[in-house]
Amino acid sequence: MNFDPDSIERREGEVAIVTGANSGVGFEVAVGLARIGCTVVMACRNMEKARLAKAEILAREPEAKLDILQLDLSDYASIKAFAEDFRSQYVQLDLLINNAGLLDYSLQINNNGIERQFATNHLGHFLLTALLIDLMPNSSSSRVVSLSSLAHKKAEIFFDDLNCEQQTKWDAAYCQSKLACLMFADELQRRLQQSGSKVLSVCAHPGGTDSGLFENMPKLLYYAMKIFVGPFILHSNESAARSILIAALGNEVKGGEYFGPQGFLEMKGAPGIATRTEYSKDEAAASRLWDISETMTDQKFDLLLDKA
Ligand SMILES: NC(=O)c1ccc[n+]([C@@H]2O[C@H](COP(=O)([O-])OP(=O)(O)OC[C@H]3O[C@@H](n4cnc5c(N)ncnc54)[C@H](OP(=O)(O)O)[C@@H]3O)[C@@H](O)[C@H]2O)c1
Repeated sequence: MNFDPDSIERREGEVAIVTGANSGVGFEVAVGLARIGCTVVMACRNMEKARLAKAEILAREPEAKLDILQLDLSDYASIKAFAEDFRSQYVQLDLLINNAGLLDYSLQINNNGIERQFATNHLGHFLLTALLIDLMPNSSSSRVVSLSSLAHKKAEIFFDDLNCEQQTKWDAAYCQSKLACLMFADELQRRLQQSGSKVLSVCAHPGGTDSGLFENMPKLLYYAMKIFVGPFILHSNESAARSILIAALGNEVKGGEYFGPQGFLEMKGAPGIATRTEYSKDEAAASRLWDISETMTDQKFDLLLDKA
């Protein structure tokens, strides 16, 4: 699939939110969107890191229109405050890039009693999307982009053990959370279509990159990956961002599509349609996940957009 981020038509006047824009893949997505004229709202939990990232983007793209708004996706109150803050400053949202994510190496339960990766990677973005989707113009260039991972292939939704307390694999909860992001993207697309909306829900994964995601990895393992494995299977964050940018901006993109790198082991390379598990296509499971997510966030999705 041909996609040259440097030859995308300009999107002057459009507004994009990128969660986790201060680091890694999200940072490069923010650069890509700023380059074509979008106003990019950097939704970050750490304002100091966000300010540094903004300065770095401006050094690369001096004309970039950037705004920083505080958002902690593991905290419902913070998500609601972010949505209000955004609404007080913007009347329209064209692109919502649900990029932020974390990878834990041991089980972490948040203040609401929910496993932290499921809470942050999936539920936080579920709530954020529900609170902002009515601001999206009724057009196929309005997109919600969810971030999944090759890791989704190792998981199912453990409906009887959402906190993964009975799972034996150390990364079960991360894999489940990334599968949830993919199934949310599909279910959102189905519901948008049913409601008559032209807004698209799409999904992408970046392949493998050496980003902040692995910061808390045991150090020996981290340096082994960096030195011996990394050069062969990882690509840069800039290259990884292309899958997300094509999902957000590609003219031919259809709702429900899933993009990722097409090179070695789907870890690196130019973007195209990504492979996925049969489980991830289970519509009954996706619908059940949606209902549970509404209950857990105490937030109903209103998709009756009814806009011209
Ligand atoms: N790197 C890979 O190989 C890889 C592979 C597959 C999928 N992914 C996915 O790609 C996405 C981007 O990850 P990355 O690799 O670019 O990692 P990264 O460099 O660690 O970036 C993750 C971003 O998410 C933010 N974040 C984490 N928890 C948050 C919270 N509670 N509220 C708000 N923001 C939060 C981080 O903020 P702080 O800087 O404050 O921590 C950071 O900005 C994630 O969804 C990840 O699952 C990455």
